Amino acid sequence: MAIILAIETSCDETAVAIVNNRQVLSSIVSSQIELHKTYGGVVPELASRQHLEIINPCISQAMEEAGLNWQDIDAIAATCTPGLVGALLVGMAAAKTLAMIYNKPFLGVHHLEGHIYASYLAQPELKPPFLCLLVSGGHTSSIYVKDYGKYELLGSTRDDAAGEAFDKVARLLNLGYPGGPIIDRLAQSGNSKAFPLPEGRISLPDGRGYHPYDFSFSGIKTAVLRLTEKLEAEGEIPVADVAASFQHTVAKVLAKRSVKCALDNGLDTITIGGGVAANSGLRKYLTEAAQKHNLKVYFPPLKFCTDNAAMIACAAAQHFNLGHRSQLDLEVRSRMRI
Ligand code: KG4
Ligand code: ZN
Repeated sequence: MAIILAIETSCDETAVAIVNNRQVLSSIVSSQIELHKTYGGVVPELASRQHLEIINPCISQAMEEAGLNWQDIDAIAATCTPGLVGALLVGMAAAKTLAMIYNKPFLGVHHLEGHIYASYLAQPELKPPFLCLLVSGGHTSSIYVKDYGKYELLGSTRDDAAGEAFDKVARLLNLGYPGGPIIDRLAQSGNSKAFPLPEGRISLPDGRGYHPYDFSFSGIKTAVLRLTEKLEAEGEIPVADVAASFQHTVAKVLAKRSVKCALDNGLDTITIGGGVAANSGLRKYLTEAAQKHNLKVYFPPLKFCTDNAAMIACAAAQHFNLGHRSQLDLEVRSRMRI
């Protein structure tokens, strides 16, 4: 058993959580969406300043909601990579300071490991091996989770991440930011068969067929751009139908290739993580496809799909229980393989 306080500031959410292994004792997420909305994306300098403004109140609130004292905390963790360097620095500096003041072990956590272990927060029985489809604003990867801390990348996007594609398509339809939840909502009232769109495939180097697990989303984004130009010239754009057709194509391809990847590698369990794991189309298609092949699928609760610190604390707890510790001179990195 390990009670971990974790801080997540890799992008535009300031988050602090306290977790007892897989049980969430408190989870504070302060979103900066309003701050960045007018710019259509995250402005790194503004993100760091905002993290700095509110990190201390978020820590106090997390402690208060969990009803704990500092002597109850076994270790302090923070996301150390990947992310915006200035933003990561704020969370890491706060976590290291707490570890020093209260004389606690410190753990730096890879953000994507957090997304992988988000499923643990709702599934006490889940354990490796399993396939994790990680679909966020910055990443789209099929990761074979062999054991705690042992991962193999089996498939990934060759261009845009899935969440990035949702955000870009939302922008070209003038829907606002972030695009994923808006498209998801609109798609409910649209016809997903209205406009056939390309799935996006990656040719094998020998030209014989396609990569079975890799993704490409830049083609579909361009296809939506051409489609909207054509529809606009003809009259009004049926936005809900475009959103539904786009979501249908992306969700289907993610579900289809993940199921193939799990089956080919002898895995009977798929989990998903990252902001796009909240997508209703992806949840539906993945559940249907998995049922057909007798696979188990676990989804994190919606609030733990997008960035939060509970998933970072949960990943840190796995490492803590294995005896792993980080040094206080651990540096932040904008990129690092999992
Ligand atoms: O995991 P996350 O919060 O941050 C990163 O680590 O990137 O993911 C954010 C991404 C954004 O691109 C957002 O548009 C997308 O997740 N997203 C969704 C949904 N909710 C968030 N995409 C599709 N459907 C959703 N319901
Ligand atoms: Zn994330």
